[in-house]
Amino acid sequence: MGRTNVPPRLPKGGFAAWSRDRLSVARRGAEECGDVWQLEPGVYVAAAAGPCEAVLRRSRDFPKAPSPLFPPLNRSSGAPTPEERAGAHAARMRGLRAHAVAARIGEIAPRTARFADQWPTDQDVEILPPLRHTLAETGVHYLFSEDAPTLLPYAARLFLAREVLARPSRWAWPSWIPTPARRFRTRQQVAFTDALRPVVRRRRASGRLGDDMLGQMLRSSPRHGPLPEEAVLDTLPGITVATFETPSRAAGWILLHLARHPRAADRVAAEAALLPADPAATTSAHLDSLRYTQALVREVLRLHPPSWLLTRRATRETQLAGYTIDAGSTVLVCPYTAHRDAREHPEPDEFQPERWLDDPDSPATSGAFLAFGTGPHGCEGTALAMAMLTLLTAQTARRYRLSEPPGPGPGYQVATFGGLATVGLRLRATLRS
Ligand code: HEM
Repeated sequence: MGRTNVPPRLPKGGFAAWSRDRLSVARRGAEECGDVWQLEPGVYVAAAAGPCEAVLRRSRDFPKAPSPLFPPLNRSSGAPTPEERAGAHAARMRGLRAHAVAARIGEIAPRTARFADQWPTDQDVEILPPLRHTLAETGVHYLFSEDAPTLLPYAARLFLAREVLARPSRWAWPSWIPTPARRFRTRQQVAFTDALRPVVRRRRASGRLGDDMLGQMLRSSPRHGPLPEEAVLDTLPGITVATFETPSRAAGWILLHLARHPRAADRVAAEAALLPADPAATTSAHLDSLRYTQALVREVLRLHPPSWLLTRRATRETQLAGYTIDAGSTVLVCPYTAHRDAREHPEPDEFQPERWLDDPDSPATSGAFLAFGTGPHGCEGTALAMAMLTLLTAQTARRYRLSEPPGPGPGYQVATFGGLATVGLRLRATLRS
């Protein structure tokens, strides 16, 4: 294979420019170098839909590293086998598939509605902390229903541990070094697991497994049998944080767009007027009827994918979009630039929820919408995330007009290190008359 066939390298790119402003360098790389480019020797960026999708789907050539966030705790049975991982995935999906989420809209809607209920009006409010709290209550309830109040405080501490671990660091410590952040993470993971274990044992001993996500995980599957207790306990810290961490990043961007696009917000409010006055009476049919709101959520996720950069490593020398990728190199998959490609999304920088209306799956090219990833490691919580975000958006817009604080510059900063997020977002809610 010819060594000349390497992806083009961005002049004046490299890690120094990258660490100053990742989004701009990513955009410049896609514009100046094309669909696959080189940030540094051995670090490639897949910038367009086709190569992004190829990397995510070809998981043998480009495997995903096991999540370093909450690695399995010391287990008596050794590291999880591939069969056990498949069993745990299948068990989680029983509780997370679209029809499982649809059956529980009446439990999700009252919790997302609390966000609008509790927003203090007519003052500038730093909105991410209450947003995260609402989504944590909603997500943790979805997982553990009547046991959620016991587990919620531990979930909040897991989130804190994740925040500490995601902070940019000057050094890339080898994974076996117990840095203070990793020790803090492990303590929180152990505390959460110690609180969850009696819940799992009580449910199994009583035979009342529950209809929530934990209950679904505890049911025996015809193919994989019952999931061992250790596998249940290992898998849940990551899922627990996932139910509210990325969704709250997304919700920050959504509320900002409601403030900046009042006509779109009015349209969401008009649609939301059809929701029942009692949120507990909300059904999946109501959710399905919120078509414009769903399109708006999707459009915000297109412009600001909260997981804007996904990492893979090439296991062997291979080809990607006609280029040679060396064995051992890192491939960064960039939904952010793929989503702003005019070949897939006309007027890509414009906020146009309508683009998703005619056909909810448009544009037709698979891989053109990658906010939830794709392939074997695509997001397990897509249906839950879309339900929570659509309901929260509709319930908020129905009640309030949102605005940004007056004055120069935006009332927030953009963070790109652990994901694409608004930091310190301040917004004001005024009751609709
Ligand atoms: C707006 C909200 C969300 C966004 C944008 C999002 C995005 C993503 C993306 C891009 C991936 C693929 C990562 C990769 O390929 O490296 C992913 C994976 C995952 N997501 Fe989500 N996610 C969201 C909400 C959720 C929720 C609510 C859950 C709750 C269960 C969840 C659970 C997971 C899990 C377990 C994976 C890992 C799948 C695997 O590695 O096999 N996500 N998510």
